[in-house]
Amino acid sequence: MLSASTIATVKATVPVLQTHGETLTRHFYAIMFRDHPEVRPFFNPAHQASGTQARALAASVVAYAQHIDRLEALAGAVPTIVHKHAALGVLPEHYPIVGKCLLQAIREVLGEAATPDILDAWAQAYGALAQILIGAEEAIYQANATRTGGWRGTRAFRVARREVESDVITSFYLEPVDGGALPSYQAGQYLTVLTTLDGVAMRRNYSLSSAPGQPWLRISVKREAGGVFSTWLHDQTQIGQVLEVMPPCGEFVLNADRLAAGAGLVFVVGGIGITPALAMLESTVASGRPITLIHAARNSAAQAFRARLEDLAKRYASLKVHHIYDQPLAQDRPDAVGLLDATRLAQWLPAGSDYDLYFLGPKPFMRSVHALALDLGLQPERLHWEFFGPKEALDEAA
Ligand SMILES: Cc1cc2nc3c(=O)[nH]c(=O)nc-3n(C[C@H](O)[C@H](O)[C@H](O)COP(=O)(O)OP(=O)(O)OC[C@H]3O[C@@H](n4cnc5c(N)ncnc54)[C@H](O)[C@@H]3O)c2cc1C
Ligand code: HEM
Repeated sequence: MLSASTIATVKATVPVLQTHGETLTRHFYAIMFRDHPEVRPFFNPAHQASGTQARALAASVVAYAQHIDRLEALAGAVPTIVHKHAALGVLPEHYPIVGKCLLQAIREVLGEAATPDILDAWAQAYGALAQILIGAEEAIYQANATRTGGWRGTRAFRVARREVESDVITSFYLEPVDGGALPSYQAGQYLTVLTTLDGVAMRRNYSLSSAPGQPWLRISVKREAGGVFSTWLHDQTQIGQVLEVMPPCGEFVLNADRLAAGAGLVFVVGGIGITPALAMLESTVASGRPITLIHAARNSAAQAFRARLEDLAKRYASLKVHHIYDQPLAQDRPDAVGLLDATRLAQWLPAGSDYDLYFLGPKPFMRSVHALALDLGLQPERLHWEFFGPKEALDEAA
């Protein structure tokens, strides 16, 4: 329990954190990677280079300081963090490392403004937050370990099949080397694959791209230009290759209450953002509820799963699928050409308002879909999204 004076001292640092938050978290990462190289493999260097991880951490530190007297206000932010941590294998013993480096960064960035009282208050506040996260992460680890087919830590999977889905996207079908059961998971969740390339250990998250209940786990990976892990998967990972995999995590899943109430579903996805949406679609399409899927892609050469979507749309009259290409090839016949705009979205959205909209894609696409959906009058609580990286603001002003 934090004392009233600790709470007041932490709250008083909010303005300075708002001004210097990102400088502080960047400095924090520099200190931590220098002094504790053992935690480096958990982090994605691209998220460091782009600053997205430093911004996400800064935003969470500011939010924590702002709401330290009523932590229930943070309830929406905690699941994303703890699922990301659990997916990547963050453990209680890592928290003192982060705590020590964060305090050092506060001291070095704020200089004389970081009085002993402020440092002491932040040490206590960090400890309280760490306990909340550690507890929530352990609950995920336990649930993942105790469910049928579940496990804790890494488990060896063999690539049983590779399927080229487009010029840039390939699916990998993974079967456990131990021959044991596979876990159920919630459509929309992702797992983490680990490898070591040229002596550098690394791990990446990949959404499960098919509904649960198959005799394999499937991920579908886009070859990222200049991307280390995806290039390795595409070029080096052949059938028979064994991969170390951590269990499915993630809270970008269908809203169970809304499903139970019979609400419809709309998926608006760009490029590789199709992966969790396809799993969600496959897991609900037989229910007969109205579902619309809009897939924006460069063209037919880049688009994955078009045949699968069209096959499902033929079998289920309740499913409507639309394809929009911004760089169509001569032979392409998409439903529309260009970028998704308000007119097109309004035309494709179902009549009425009893549906939830799930969207995912490149950041500019997500910003645009978010703004268009709000302009078209959708209620904010009906909108759900995930980033294929640290959480970012969708509203430029936020
Ligand atoms: C929840 C979640 C689910 C995901 N699901 C999927 C999925 O289903 N399918 C999928 O394909 N991906 C998915 N991803 C993305 C995936 O985790 C990887 O980020 C992606 O495969 C790229 O990894 P990479 O190692 O190939 O690229 P990286 O090596 O990480 O590089 C990414 C980009 O950053 C640039 N870059 C890298 N390092 C630096 C640097 N130091 N300085 C400047 N630029 C740099 C690279 O040139 C490249 O353009 C998901 C991510 C998350 C968080
Ligand atoms: C109170 C302490 C902590 C807070 C507030 C915190 C906060 C966050 C936040 C906000 C994110 C971004 C989530 C997202 O949007 O995807 C994140 C991601 C992450 N955190 Fe933490 N974290 C804490 C402790 C730790 C610890 C102890 C570790 C272990 C070393 C850790 C490792 C990671 C990693 C590896 C990621 C993903 C980074 C990436 O995408 O490259 N965190 N954390």
